[in-house]
Amino acid sequence: MKLLELYAKMKGDLNQIEKELERSVTDDHALLSDTSTHLLKAGGKRLRPVIVLLAGKFGDYNLDVLKRVAVPLELIHMASLVHDDVIDDAETRRGQLTVKSKWDNRIAMYTGDYIHGKALTIATQLPNPQIHQILSKSLVEMCIGEMEQIRDFFNTEQTVRNYLLRIRRKTALLIAISCQLGAIAAGTDRLTANKLYRFGYNIGMAFQIRDDLLDLYGTEKQIGKPPGSDIRQGNITLPVILALRDPGAREPLLQEIRMIREHEGFPDTKRAISLIRDSAGGELADELANRYIQKALKALEGLPDLTAKKNLTDIAHFVGKRNY
Ligand code: IPE
Ligand code: IPE
Ligand code: MG
Ligand code: MG
Ligand code: MG
Repeated sequence: MKLLELYAKMKGDLNQIEKELERSVTDDHALLSDTSTHLLKAGGKRLRPVIVLLAGKFGDYNLDVLKRVAVPLELIHMASLVHDDVIDDAETRRGQLTVKSKWDNRIAMYTGDYIHGKALTIATQLPNPQIHQILSKSLVEMCIGEMEQIRDFFNTEQTVRNYLLRIRRKTALLIAISCQLGAIAAGTDRLTANKLYRFGYNIGMAFQIRDDLLDLYGTEKQIGKPPGSDIRQGNITLPVILALRDPGAREPLLQEIRMIREHEGFPDTKRAISLIRDSAGGELADELANRYIQKALKALEGLPDLTAKKNLTDIAHFVGKRNY
């Protein structure tokens, strides 16, 4: 089943999540409502809530309970995007102006904090400290991942392992706990929650690898922002690390990356991007993403044959091939 068909099937419940998302950021303050709903209305895949709901199908599915996990997870994701666009100096996201560019950096920082606060308000309505602990730990890990990324800017000697550790923290864990918390909130047994966590973790790794590939191979229309922003800011992603191992590409690419570094602010990234595209880097990164998808599918083995299991399989295939 295509992703859009899956969303159509889940429409009733997703609409309720959508209403709750909107309600959660519109009550307090006019400007904060405007800035938060700006990003909300710009769209987005709502992947994390979808995953929470599907994981919840493996236990006692109660939308009122699952909502209190799905909404905070999407809000945490949104808050991280508002801050990410400040850090990455990004003008557009989801095809619209970013909060930092429609307003300014200060407003974006408080918007992110505000959205975080609202996530906590909703998550703490569930009287389950394990859920609160898992959520807060993932926030800490996300910050560490982003800090490691800054530390590794322009580091052309970094290893694939460095990269994988970084994206595990900044992206994969939030997707992993979306699965896990959906399961926990629905009261599944531990084994089921662990399997779902492993599924989420592995699609999360593939998700960020594909995001990094899209930044090099995608079009502005596909990704809702101009491509090339990672290399422009010195973020050496998997396809670049692997391109640097390609003897034909290594020296000229090192030279281009040095040039980009020297022209920070207004670098020309065209040649670097075309060197990467002509190298073996993209294909190898794609292979690794697919290996994570295979691991994700394996993690589902042994779970009962519910429609939700089939839906998660479809999501894994979507993530492995996604071009938006
Ligand atoms: C973007 O996430 C940030 C990453 C973790 C790569 P998504 O691609 O899920 O963003 P939206 O919510 O669909 O815009
Ligand atoms: C993911 O990384 C960001 C977060 C986990 C917050 P990116 O910086 O690559 O995300 P995009 O590409 O801007 O969505
Ligand atoms: Mg970023
Ligand atoms: Mg970014
Ligand atoms: Mg990206």
